[in-house]
Amino acid sequence: MSVAGRKSFGILGTGSAVPERILTNAELETMVDTSDEWIVSRTGIRERRIAAEGTSSSTLAHLAAKAALEDAKLQANEIDLILCATVTPDMAFPATACILQDLLGLERIPAFDLSAGCSGFGYALSVAESMLRSGPYKKAMVVGVDLLSRITDYEDRSTCVLFGDGAGAAILGQVPQGFGILAIELGADGAGGHVLQQPAGGSLRPASRASVEERQHYIKMQGSDVFKFAVRIMDESTKRVVTKAGLELSEVDLVIPHQANTRIISAAANRLGIPEEKFFVNVDRYGNTSAASIGLALDEANRSGQLKEGAHLVLVGFGAGLTWSATVITWWAGGLNDAAL
Ligand code: UT7
Repeated sequence: MSVAGRKSFGILGTGSAVPERILTNAELETMVDTSDEWIVSRTGIRERRIAAEGTSSSTLAHLAAKAALEDAKLQANEIDLILCATVTPDMAFPATACILQDLLGLERIPAFDLSAGCSGFGYALSVAESMLRSGPYKKAMVVGVDLLSRITDYEDRSTCVLFGDGAGAAILGQVPQGFGILAIELGADGAGGHVLQQPAGGSLRPASRASVEERQHYIKMQGSDVFKFAVRIMDESTKRVVTKAGLELSEVDLVIPHQANTRIISAAANRLGIPEEKFFVNVDRYGNTSAASIGLALDEANRSGQLKEGAHLVLVGFGAGLTWSATVITWWAGGLNDAAL
């Protein structure tokens, strides 16, 4: 909550990037036993983007980061902290955030990844906001990026129709009081982690001939369990975070939910009593892009002029962990304007 004398931090610019290659439902019909009708009616997804061979999370992160810098009218060397949320880093280490730092031509500033599945963008916003508030940092680059196509089993119809690749970026810095991030709720339920995981490739089950033959490097998901969790947690966390921000649900102007499934979004809207028209949806064009999803949607909302100064936004996500994140932001459209601080 904004308190007199307390600095406010918000978003100064946004950017996003998706690969050019479009994978349509019609093409998936030729790959697995599915249909456009099933996919659209069960998920709302019509197409998704797939990264070309040789590109990686850092490639898309870099494009999104450059777009966010341009939107914020900042030079890369004005950034002093980089956070990357991803479950598909370029490699286990170094962190994709460090690779991005190098691509941006930056040195020395801290750069690290965090893993919170599809809630990653909200987690990263929260960590960045805390570091800006408490540390010597002035401007943070937050990127949510995932190339889920790299870990999707295109022989498993229950998952391969859902996922796509993308990146969303935001630059955080000080904004005038009364604007910016008003409240954040993060949470996790580790006991539910087994319903959405990539079983092999880590220290528990390192890559081996058997792990590859058993297709254990691909996403395994119990979809209906995730569905129920998602609807419940979007409802509960949105209510809690809006109350924490000192607002009523009726004062929310736009909800930017994690883009997983239009049925999840409709069910959550119903429970919250917030009209569906107030939910930003682009899952039809990109599918579920995991940690990129909310940043990508936020950037599209920003660029299409839907974010008016003073508008109350709720960013709400859920994902592997199981995790969730909900953030209330009062939109500051003035960009970098030190005179207004
Ligand atoms: O970002 C967080 C990660 N994940 C999610 O957010 C996903 C959350 N879950 C979901 O979105 C939904 O659970 C799904 C879209 C994954 C599945 O929808 P559902 O309504 O929960 O379907 P279901 O899993 O209960 O499957 C219903 C039927 C099954 O057939 P039977 O057993 O009833 O004969 C499936 O085999 O649909 C079948 N099915 C398909 N049919 C055609 C599953 N996938 C497909 C498919 N095409 N692609």
